[in-house]
Amino acid sequence: MVDVRKTMRGAVRRLAEGFARQIVSAQSGQGIALVHVDPLSSLGRVWSGSGQDNMLLIAGLARASGARRYLEIGAYRGFTAGFVRWACPNIEIHAIDNWQRASTSVAALLDGVRQISGSDHAIFAYEGDSTAMLDELIAKGLSFDLIYVDGCHTYEYAKSDYERALRLLAPAGTIVIDDTVTWWGPRELSEELQAGALPEGMQALEIRMTNGLLIVSRPPKEKGPLAMTRENCPDGVWRDPEPVRRAG
Ligand SMILES: C[S@@+](CC[C@H](N)C(=O)[O-])C[C@H]1O[C@@H](n2cnc3c(N)ncnc32)[C@H](O)[C@@H]1O
Repeated sequence: MVDVRKTMRGAVRRLAEGFARQIVSAQSGQGIALVHVDPLSSLGRVWSGSGQDNMLLIAGLARASGARRYLEIGAYRGFTAGFVRWACPNIEIHAIDNWQRASTSVAALLDGVRQISGSDHAIFAYEGDSTAMLDELIAKGLSFDLIYVDGCHTYEYAKSDYERALRLLAPAGTIVIDDTVTWWGPRELSEELQAGALPEGMQALEIRMTNGLLIVSRPPKEKGPLAMTRENCPDGVWRDPEPVRRAG
């Protein structure tokens, strides 16, 4: 059986190696120096509440969907945001939190993103209760490609954050709700949405092998019929031009 986590970590490691080569920073008077950023090595050292695999999954979603503007509700110390920035170096990060937990602040958020990704540019922080902050963003007319709902985990807050996230979502955007396996508030919301409470035209996929993530999005625009069929393509069996020679 394929070990999905190992496969995913392998893919992420290769991605990390690619980025580590690409990220450069100017050092005063010394020209350009290579900064080695290895987010995987920080995985075991940072505690985000989201869980390690969820941080990677969200970064992967941001990258795969080509997200350009990311909103995190309950951004804490910037660890998931850091992985998102690492996977998408040019993404704009918008972070909401009341930063009332120990060792948290806007400065800690910037530090967290920098620690994981090597960069802290284009980060917008909104300090306050999520309901009020989201209403401000709605009033400003902002929209986001990827919105991560990970603030207060009561059902009432999770639902109100999600409903406001829907109003802020770009037409082809994605909302991700965290902790649908580990906390009752997001769990109840996830069950309610999957039982049919999704807005028309939206679909949901829940990943339960981590702390739980509910991914809510609109299906991509309808594509024409696939060009590839059983009849017009090779039979699907790999054939190496030369047989592989094994030692011994
Ligand atoms: C589990 S932590 C988020 C972890 C973060 N998403 C990450 O991946 O690193 C939850 C965060 O939500 C924030 N929070 C809780 N209730 C909130 C509220 N009503 N308004 C804004 N932020 C809130 C907390 O301060 C905390 O930083």
